[in-house]
Amino acid sequence: MFSKSLAAVALLATNAAATIYYAGVAESSGEFGVWSQTTTIGTGLPGVFGKDYSFISKEAIDTYVDQNKVANLFRVAFLLERMCPLSSGLGSKFDEAHFNNFADAINYITVTKKAYAILDPHNYMRYNDPSQQPMTGSVIGNSSDSKAATTAQFGAFWGELARRFVDNPKVIFGLMNEPHDMPTSLVLANDQAAIDAIRNAGAKQLIIAPGNSWTGGHSWMEGSDSSGATMCKIKDPLNNTAFDIHEYLDTDYSGSHQECVNLASTKLAPVTAWLKKYGFKAMITEFGASPLASCNTYVTDILNYMATNDVYIGWTAWAAGPMWGTRSPCCNGNKDFGSLEPGSTASDGSPGLYTTLWVNQIQKLLPTTLVWSGMSSVTGGM
Ligand SMILES: *[C@@H]1O[C@H](CO)[C@@H](O)[C@H](O)[C@H]1NC(C)=O
Ligand SMILES: *[C@@H]1O[C@H](CO)[C@@H](O)[C@H](O)[C@H]1NC(C)=O
Repeated sequence: MFSKSLAAVALLATNAAATIYYAGVAESSGEFGVWSQTTTIGTGLPGVFGKDYSFISKEAIDTYVDQNKVANLFRVAFLLERMCPLSSGLGSKFDEAHFNNFADAINYITVTKKAYAILDPHNYMRYNDPSQQPMTGSVIGNSSDSKAATTAQFGAFWGELARRFVDNPKVIFGLMNEPHDMPTSLVLANDQAAIDAIRNAGAKQLIIAPGNSWTGGHSWMEGSDSSGATMCKIKDPLNNTAFDIHEYLDTDYSGSHQECVNLASTKLAPVTAWLKKYGFKAMITEFGASPLASCNTYVTDILNYMATNDVYIGWTAWAAGPMWGTRSPCCNGNKDFGSLEPGSTASDGSPGLYTTLWVNQIQKLLPTTLVWSGMSSVTGGM
């Protein structure tokens, strides 16, 4: 008891400037079930809900929110090709059964559990062929590709989704997961069309916008077509947009290797300076690590770095979700490590990442500044 309260005081002191309002996990499973070895377009579409893909396990959300009294943010992945079937195309026409299942998950998180939810179209800024995601599919807004959905269609999609959640203050609009291999000017144009459509629908909630190159934080200022050079032009009439950044700690920042070698506090310094310069905020909605002891200091580093740099307002670790089984969202070596889903086990039956990474490491460093009321915003509710 004594040492525990001392630790709490120390934590408060170091977190004096902390502005992490939202923290939790990515719920990954809604994008599952479409991979095709032969790149057969339409594989797994629409798919069977609860069998090929799913959104959340309500018991898992309960565990994160109640049992541990901690996490207040869940990033729920879905596929554009399921929400907007190929037959009608990307836009304001939704598959209503699919939408209803998605809305059930979002409402459970936000209304029943009073936490926040990021709506996450997990599409890499592509639409029409997720058969070998992240590489397949036409880039949204590619005017040289007659099969590509347009920037205007992307805007129409977001306008409709925002209209349907306009009265739910606990949602956050995550415009797109990991755009890559496209001009950054097109990422900006698509993000901007989405922001404009969301605001035109009357929705005032927090928007998080990705940059290019898998929205990687470490490379934000790098290359001849960097996110930094272009994304600073983004405009939100309500000033309630933050950037959505991903940052992995392994050798190529892919999050697929067991060993951590890249310290976030070093690698994120340039993008942190850029965010400060322009007065922007950011969330890191993907980071992760293996349970190997050698990763522990890297996990501590990224959590402390976000907690002590006030441009960061939230984060979600990759990944929980009901469909992982023993497979690992981080990496596979001689065994699978399981996932962040509560109750998850590794392939050898030992405790999964929920225990080894979340409970034993991340949960201990959860910010004490999380909010449970108010509209999602860059200032933590208003
Ligand atoms: C746009 O489409 C053209 C024609 O299919 C293709 O050659 C080009 O690579 C595409 N651009 C992007 C960024 O995918
Ligand atoms: C948004 O920020 C700009 C630049 O600081 C400012 O001029 C404008 O009044 C702000 N708008 C709102 C709605 O706060």
